[in-house]
Amino acid sequence: MSLTTFSPERAGAHPGRPADSPAKVTVPSLLEKKLLRQPIVAVTAYDYATARLVDEAGLDVLLVGDSLAMVMQGQENTLAITMDEMLLYTRGVRRAVKRALLVADMPFGSYHTDDREALANAIRFVKESGAEAVKLEGGRERKDLIQRIVAAEIPVMGHIGLTPQSVHRMGGYKVQGKTMEAIDELRTDALALEQAGCFVIVLEGVPRELARIITDELHIPTIGIGAGPDCDGQILVMHDMMTMTFSPPAKFVRRYADIAGVMRSALEEYRRDVDARTFPSDAESYHFSREIRELMTEPVEVVD
Ligand code: KIV
Repeated sequence: MSLTTFSPERAGAHPGRPADSPAKVTVPSLLEKKLLRQPIVAVTAYDYATARLVDEAGLDVLLVGDSLAMVMQGQENTLAITMDEMLLYTRGVRRAVKRALLVADMPFGSYHTDDREALANAIRFVKESGAEAVKLEGGRERKDLIQRIVAAEIPVMGHIGLTPQSVHRMGGYKVQGKTMEAIDELRTDALALEQAGCFVIVLEGVPRELARIITDELHIPTIGIGAGPDCDGQILVMHDMMTMTFSPPAKFVRRYADIAGVMRSALEEYRRDVDARTFPSDAESYHFSREIRELMTEPVEVVD
């Protein structure tokens, strides 16, 4: 095949995707987006079907976030989810994603004991689940670890501000960076993460003004969640934006669909149909063949 021949695989196209769909998103292509001032669109997903929709919709980054502990498993916070569980979900997503950059979240405890173990866990994400990058929470205190993971050829997404794995230290999910001291600390953290080799930093739950300052100070892109519109990109938790959660959303969440509403009415209709014996219909049923009907000693009712 000639090098100029179009190949959907080379272009990162999905089997169901139009042939002119854009090329595979990579770490360098995200850096280029910042230079070109093109917004980065990211979202979380945790299963094959949803991830496939994300990929086919042309989003740039898909994060298998540890938020899955809360939105998929109904846990109170993200702290209990394990490496093995994160790997299981990430593998399902991997089968669906052809174009978006696939990032896996390192769960609480998987990078907090010693750097050797943390590196081994980052490597597991690449080898056992096909993640292309890992995300971990924290600032300056993670610098050495991040350098080590990056040196092992694994791109690292940083995450500062409201870091859900610090829920107990923060005393809840509270907006961060509200005092002069906290502002300085977060600016220092962002620069430290860039120097350590992160390719992108998530800024969560910080004032818009601070997110803008950090975004301007960094060469790498920032991706905001509850950080205002001036970041280089945005990320939302899938279940928040699709209304698949059961409590009022945070201020920064925009609801793009009411999937819970659609599912609730579909399930109620299904219950009514089965109760009324209108589901399944004859057309939705399999039937004996004519030969079998003729062999039956008992008469077989044929419904047309
Ligand atoms: O776990 C998660 O979903 C996240 C995003 C909110 C960035 O960390």
